[in-house]
Amino acid sequence: MHHFDLKDGALQAEGVSLEALAEAVGTPAYVYSTATLTRHYGVLREAADAHREAWGDALIAYAVKANSNLSVLATLARLGCGADTVSEGEIRRALAAGVPAGKIIFSGVGKTDGELAFAIQQGVRQINVESPAELDRLIPIAERLGKVPEIAIRVNPKIGAGGHAKITTGGEGDKFGIPADEAMALYVRAAASPHVTPVGLACHIGSQITDLTPLEAAFRLLRSMTEELRAKGQTVTRLDLGGGLGVPYVGGAPTASPADYVAMAARVLDGLGVEAAFEPGRLLAANAGVLLSRVIQITERADGRRFLVLDAAMNDLIRPAMYDSFHEIKAVRPREAGGHNAPTAYDVVGPICETGDTFARGRDLPPLQAGDLVVFTGAGAYGAVMSSEYNTRPLVPEVLVDGDRWAVIRPRPTYEEMLAREPMADWL
Ligand code: LLP
Repeated sequence: MHHFDLKDGALQAEGVSLEALAEAVGTPAYVYSTATLTRHYGVLREAADAHREAWGDALIAYAVKANSNLSVLATLARLGCGADTVSEGEIRRALAAGVPAGKIIFSGVGKTDGELAFAIQQGVRQINVESPAELDRLIPIAERLGKVPEIAIRVNPKIGAGGHAKITTGGEGDKFGIPADEAMALYVRAAASPHVTPVGLACHIGSQITDLTPLEAAFRLLRSMTEELRAKGQTVTRLDLGGGLGVPYVGGAPTASPADYVAMAARVLDGLGVEAAFEPGRLLAANAGVLLSRVIQITERADGRRFLVLDAAMNDLIRPAMYDSFHEIKAVRPREAGGHNAPTAYDVVGPICETGDTFARGRDLPPLQAGDLVVFTGAGAYGAVMSSEYNTRPLVPEVLVDGDRWAVIRPRPTYEEMLAREPMADWL
């Protein structure tokens, strides 16, 4: 469910015309919908609250990596959402956007000593420890700072899942987390230290997971580990269930609903008496954003092949090049099909000088012409955050819409600003 709909023959973001936005800010541009973010958070919140008997007030900690724009974070923070972070930078963003430290989880396989110290000093809710080596570094840092951070041990459940091998994180050979037996031994070791307090277990097995079966297996493992640890006299009060629930990308696999996902988690944790945390990224942000782009030209070959050349490229939206992912492409002002205007199969490409800069091959699209506007849907998560200035293309601006109002929440840098970022070596 999203709020990008046709009105008077053209797509709008809520009450704002995408054609008008393209005039005002230029293309390409990311456009986000406040109403969609709000709705997605609300659906998950409602589902979690319907199972208070299982876990009290579950924490929804938005995975900041999905879309870390400050205005997006602030929109979610005002709804009461927490943050799952993986770097000092993300912690700083979450704090700056108004997420209280007590709702910030710090995850990641390679937190530096400096980042661990920063997180402890800020008093984040929980640090998810992902390896024995990390605990060995964390304990002396906490001791030096005279603080006792609460930690969770991230388990590698040997259950990988997700929309692509590159985003599967729970498999045995993946770098994330600690196998169950070692994780329990580490929990006991951490509990023996006066400098950290283990409060729970965490897992995150992958992203764009459309089927609940692997998630359920991972949650069951967390449950049995909790019971085993308690039998050993340990206190376990929190389970961090990670993120990973997929979203319906048009043309992609159907996916389990947030309500079914949360109900499954409640069933698995029933009677355990733990606080649950969810770390959704894509679920909240993906369908709350589009990438708006203009057709530069249509290149026709004698063999009938047609390239739709857009002003957006792989540096702006890397998911198709990186994960072969499908994003629906829609005309902002669709023409009536018929007569000369039959739908046509295009190879949709950007201007970058490599073949990887291909968004889709042989995609049937309604009739389009040079100068037309199109959007990539489902681009609110892992879109702008993964963009770069490859080919010295300015970072795409981001726009947030709320009803009839809109704001540029990250401007496109000017070429002067881009060049000024690079001081020339003084011997040149
Ligand atoms: N928690 C942890 C510890 C994570 O590593 C991630 C994502 C999440 C939560 C949020 O997962 P989500 O709910 O968004 O699936 N760039 C890739 C996705 C990478 C996901 C990495 N970790 C893509 O564009 O598909």
